[in-house]
Amino acid sequence: MRILVLNGPNLNLLGLREPEIYGRETYTDLIDRIHRTASELGVEVTCRQSNHEGMLIDWIQESYGVYDGIVLNPAAYTHTSIALLDALKAVNIPTVEVHISDTGKRESYRQISYVRQACVKTVMGLGLDGYEVALRYLVSILKD
Ligand code: DQA
Repeated sequence: MRILVLNGPNLNLLGLREPEIYGRETYTDLIDRIHRTASELGVEVTCRQSNHEGMLIDWIQESYGVYDGIVLNPAAYTHTSIALLDALKAVNIPTVEVHISDTGKRESYRQISYVRQACVKTVMGLGLDGYEVALRYLVSILKD
């Protein structure tokens, strides 16, 4: 089973970026955690991060026929990008939306998520643990 983990803009700055919201662990720490969970689950995982919407869209398109599931934190593009939603709908690969913070309890402009319509689940407010929860959920539904 192959899983793609995609992170959007500014998530490369984890640890440095607003640590009171996103914590002190770095992006490298996150990737280590994801690889540990993936090897425990016996799945192959690829992790990618980009600050560019088009890059994220290209990676979603290229995942067709290659990956069985996607874990996606689109970061700020969550609240703006119909293009990401359309890409997810086009490839129709089971996708779990992840947010480190609980966007539901934050600013009004973070209340909309376009990608959510194309996702099988949303995990938010669990910090970096949310990626692990998402991965476990994805693997469980893909195995069924
Ligand atoms: C985020 C929440 C978004 O609103 C924000 O723009 C991010 C990170 C999160 O993981 O909590 O960059 O997706």
